[in-house]
Parts: sequence; C-alpha cells; structure tokens
Amino acid sequence: MSHSAPSLTYLTQPSEARLKGALRVPGDKSISHRSIMLGALAEGETHITGFLEGEDSLNTLRCFRAMGVAITDPADGVVRVKGVGLHGLKAPEKPLYVGNSGTSMRLMAGILAGQAFDTVLEGDASLSRRPMKRVIDPLTRMGAVIESAEGGRSPLTIRGGQKLKAIDYLLPMASAQVKSCVLLAGLYAEGRTCATEPAPTRDHTERMLNGFGYPVERHGATACVTGGGALQGRAIDVPADISSAAFFMVAASIAHEADIMLEHVGMNPTRTGVIDILKAMGADITVHNPREVGGEPVADIQVRHARLRGIAIPEDLVPLAIDEFPVLFVAAACAEGQTVLTGAEELRVKESDRIAVMADGLQKLGVEATATPDGMVIVGRGAERDVFGEAEIWSQGDHRIAMAFSVAGLRARGQIRIHDCQFVETSFPGFADLFTRCGGGLSVEAGAAS
Ligand code: S3P
Repeated sequence: MSHSAPSLTYLTQPSEARLKGALRVPGDKSISHRSIMLGALAEGETHITGFLEGEDSLNTLRCFRAMGVAITDPADGVVRVKGVGLHGLKAPEKPLYVGNSGTSMRLMAGILAGQAFDTVLEGDASLSRRPMKRVIDPLTRMGAVIESAEGGRSPLTIRGGQKLKAIDYLLPMASAQVKSCVLLAGLYAEGRTCATEPAPTRDHTERMLNGFGYPVERHGATACVTGGGALQGRAIDVPADISSAAFFMVAASIAHEADIMLEHVGMNPTRTGVIDILKAMGADITVHNPREVGGEPVADIQVRHARLRGIAIPEDLVPLAIDEFPVLFVAAACAEGQTVLTGAEELRVKESDRIAVMADGLQKLGVEATATPDGMVIVGRGAERDVFGEAEIWSQGDHRIAMAFSVAGLRARGQIRIHDCQFVETSFPGFADLFTRCGGGLSVEAGAAS
C-alpha cells in the first residue's frame, strides 16, 4: 500500500445470508512473493499466472524492480519476470519499502545479506513493531552485517560485500519465514546451509527452489542448500490462497443453508490445518478433483452449513493453520461448547497481536472469549441463532482481523462496523465484492475515521 492509503470501514448487514455459488479467491500470497523473488534470481524468464495482485506481493515486485529486474505490470494475474541471475541485482536508489509485509522483509533480508551492495528495508507502522531479530540472528551467524532499530525492529540496514558462510541453524520457533530467510542466504554462502524446524511449516520455498532446478535436500525436519548453484526460470501457476479461502470456509459453515465451491485452492499439506480443524469441529467439507499444478497440490473445496462443536485444537495443527486463527475464533464462537487453543504464542507477533485483538472484539460482540499467553478459550454460542451482538471493531492494521469480523456479521443480531479495512488490500483485493456477490452482506464506507 502507498504510505497513506485512505481508511475504509466495512459495515456488515444483519443478514439472512444464503451463501451459494462457485468462486475462486485470489492467488496464494506466500507463493506469489516467492515467484517474484526466485524469478528475479533465476537465469531466463519466469512466466507467472494466478499472481496475487495484493499490496504485499506488489511490494515485493516493486522492490525487485528497484533492483533492476524487468517485471511486467500484472494483468489478470499474469506477470513475466526477466531473471538477472543470483548475482545480477543492482543497488536500489532508495530504501526498499515493503509496506505491511513480513514475508517480503524476512525473505528479502536473506537475499540481500548476500549482495555486493548496501540496502535498507523498511515497512509500515505495523511491520516496524514486529520482531526481526529472528532473522538478524542467523544471518549474523552467517557473516552478514545488519543494523536495526531498537529491539531488533526495522528499518534494517544490510551491509553488502560480506562473505557468507554456511551454518546449521536450529530454529527457535516454527517459522517458514525464518527458515526461508536462512535457505535464501544459503544460496550465497560457501558450503551447505541447513535449517531445522521444531515443527513442520509451509515448504513453498523448498518446493519452488527445486522447481527452479536448485536442489534442496530434506532429511526429516532439516532442509539444506549448498551455495554456488544457479536457478533456471520457469512457468509458475499460483493456486488460490487457502488462507483467503478460509474466510469462505468458515462463512459457509456458520451461515444457514450455505453451499459453496471454492475453486483451484492450494492444498499443500503444510497449509491445510484449517480444513482439519474445521472438520474436527464438525464442518461439512468435501475435497473434489485433487490434482497437482507445478509442484503444488490443488483441489476444489465444497463447504456446506453444519453445526459446529467446540474442540481442543491439537497443537501440531497450529503451524499448519497459523494465519487462519482470526476466522477460526469466529467459527469457535459459532460452535456448541468450548474451544481451547494453546501453543499459538506466534499469533501475538503477526500483523497485530491476534490473540488480544480478537479476544477484545469477540467480547465486544458478547462472546465469552478469554485470551491466554499462548492462545484463547472461547465459549461457543452455536445453539443460538444470533451468536454476535453489534459493535464497533478496530482491525488494528490487520487484514485478517477485518475479514474475520466481516464473516462474524453472518450470525450477528445487529451491525458490526469494522474500521481500518484498507489493509484487506494486502492479501485479498476484492474481498468485499466477492463476499457480497456470494450472498454475504457487506458494504464499504470510504474515508471514515480510523
Ligand atoms: C509466511 C509464513 C508465516 C505466515 C505468513 C506467511 C510465509 O509466517 O504467518 O503469513 O510466506 O513464509 P511465520 O513463518 O513467521 O510463521
């Protein structure tokens, strides 16, 4: 997003929504970022279809353009990247601005640590509060020189011209961004760099590196790359983002008489925790036509209304559904019985503190939601027709909070006014339109105070 996008407010309609129809949500954010990054570092052209034209991935695209990579303007999800090779990037004239995007900052930090020139990486107010020490630490061990603001926050100044050495890194938290950062720096390091994760996290970087002809070895929880190779440009078909589809999965589960089909959704097993959790809650979800597209599994997903029940969410599913908890909390409020989430302290360092912000919003809407240090306890009100009351909610610069409360509107007695919804553009352009088109009532007010 530009440095000052006008604020937007969403207004839910107390609705008798009947969600129906087939829809395709926009492209996967994680895969879109990586397609630009690896396409830029490859030799030859990379032809991307299904690219997410959201602000986060567009910021990645702009950063690589600023480093001399020719990239076409996205048109209907089609982007062509003229790769410059691992050593072909040029010094940008200005700091690289990544907006709200943690993925851009953390993955690019790994790439930039291996360049011959200095760079500055900066983001918006939300990103400037998020922890970057988690990437500064392993990169420094590899020989990178990085200056940060107080407490390991951005902006980050990355000094070029360092000789990186390979490391064996045991990640202190389950983070695909940290793993990817280390592996991308490993492309520039002498020797074999390995990242070992405490629990499985999304593996798009490993899959895509292999797809570009750069071998990633995998032994159990450890992924390794050896520096000094090369990437070859290729075609990439980005599937629809399961994290965006999740809003519609919960919407259809909680709205009476709903029956929707979500098309061409990415089904990478490191991302499908939301389906497992919803199914354990009693959701009616059917996976149709599973297939593979360019190294990533894809399927169409049918979701019908169901009576949900509260569960204790298995901790091993947490990293596999890490972005879906705001809307899963809404599902839990619409279930019968109690839902307990533990082992999810990472939610406190996302685009907002998603435990605090969601618990606060749910309480305002009349739901008994208790924040804990690493999760939440929610007493479901699924036996009642109207689960939520009416309230004003601030999404705190967090796209997924805004969309989660939009979904809550489907079971609200009154109107939910959700402020700061301009951030929805980071991951899901067109959300309000698509939601309204398939039957959910949502109107948008421009320029409201935030
Ligand atoms: C992402 C990894 C996750 C996720 C984020 C995207 C990625 O973050 O929350 O939205 O593309 O690698 P962490 O790796 O920090 O958990």
